[in-house]
Amino acid sequence: MTHSMPTSSFAARAAALAVAALSLPMPVSAQAPLKVGLMMSYTGTFASPSTMAERGFQLFVQEQGGKLAGREIQYVKVDDESDPSKATDNVNKLIRRDNVDIIVGPVHSGVGLAMARAVRESGTLMIVPNAGADAITGAMCAPNIFRTSFSNWQTGYATGVAAARKAYRNAMTITWNYAAGNEMVKGFTNGFEAGGGKVNRNLTLPFPNVEFQALLTEIAAQKPDLVFAFFAGAGAVKFVKDYDAAGLRRTVPLMGNGFLTDGTLQAQGESAQGLVTALHYGDVLDTARNNAFRKGFAAAYKVDPDVYAMQGYDAAQLLAAGLLATGGNASRRDDMIVAMRKATIDSPRGTFTMSPQHNPVQDFYLREVENGQNVVKGVAIKALADPGRGCRM
Ligand code: BEZ
Repeated sequence: MTHSMPTSSFAARAAALAVAALSLPMPVSAQAPLKVGLMMSYTGTFASPSTMAERGFQLFVQEQGGKLAGREIQYVKVDDESDPSKATDNVNKLIRRDNVDIIVGPVHSGVGLAMARAVRESGTLMIVPNAGADAITGAMCAPNIFRTSFSNWQTGYATGVAAARKAYRNAMTITWNYAAGNEMVKGFTNGFEAGGGKVNRNLTLPFPNVEFQALLTEIAAQKPDLVFAFFAGAGAVKFVKDYDAAGLRRTVPLMGNGFLTDGTLQAQGESAQGLVTALHYGDVLDTARNNAFRKGFAAAYKVDPDVYAMQGYDAAQLLAAGLLATGGNASRRDDMIVAMRKATIDSPRGTFTMSPQHNPVQDFYLREVENGQNVVKGVAIKALADPGRGCRM
């Protein structure tokens, strides 16, 4: 006698098997590539910082054999054009159309604020490899938002502390009038005035304007002890050259947070010689970790890395820490977040951990430009944490 299973029971068992197969953990190698959305300023003033951040990220992935926690990485790129008014549409394309697993970006603070708003709603993991807008890890903080760079306040404050220690007493500031410039000036003022200095005048021009002449004339007329400046990328190149050409380099000392001279020295040439800055990185940090990073970067891209490359590299390290904790499964988002919060990142800048608001707690170095390099002269301030004002997590 042959037994045949009743059709209804066979269908039920097949369905049960299918469900069981679905709930088995998929071997990592069988999972689709992890989609990383890179949203940065690939054109305009911040094109170089953006390219360097992307290269740094990709270098770390390459060093792991092209995979993080066993997952292949697929990149989806969007040029944000440093335009905050387009940022919400751009980031929503990555989230909804491209279905990325994680967003890495941006460089520009105004763009970063709009992105943070969108990912707070969607819950998408976001790692910021540069944009320093204070609110990203302050009032707009969220469990799914991390930063591997700095807050604007941190970089300004460290420079202000270093400037006061050099016994400058009255300062003028000059920057672009947008979130990063304004917050860095605020940080500088906090650090400088706490050390006995006084900021007398703040000069600004719209981002990304580089017509500095009228403002340089004003500096020459006022003759402060010190000028603090924040410019970056192509804007920093032009500012430092114009400052020198106006004859100010030898008459009115100029300090900046290190963006003024990072990734820019070749183009600035002699005009940058002797400039003193403070930043969480320096070219000549003589540690095994930094030397290996610089060697690997130079071999891969035929150029030396800068602070942006280092921050992108660390964004990939942070993502790897999250993925390793979940065996490469990015849908276990909460477990990834726990691991990323607890991570100690073995960075080329020196190891760092995350503040409760997900911003690096890190040392800031005092640097001086010597023959085309940002040479570290000491520590401006150790283990500086952003206060994370307004963050509720
Ligand atoms: C910013 O917009 O946050 C920024 C851009 C370039 C360098 C540093 C900060």
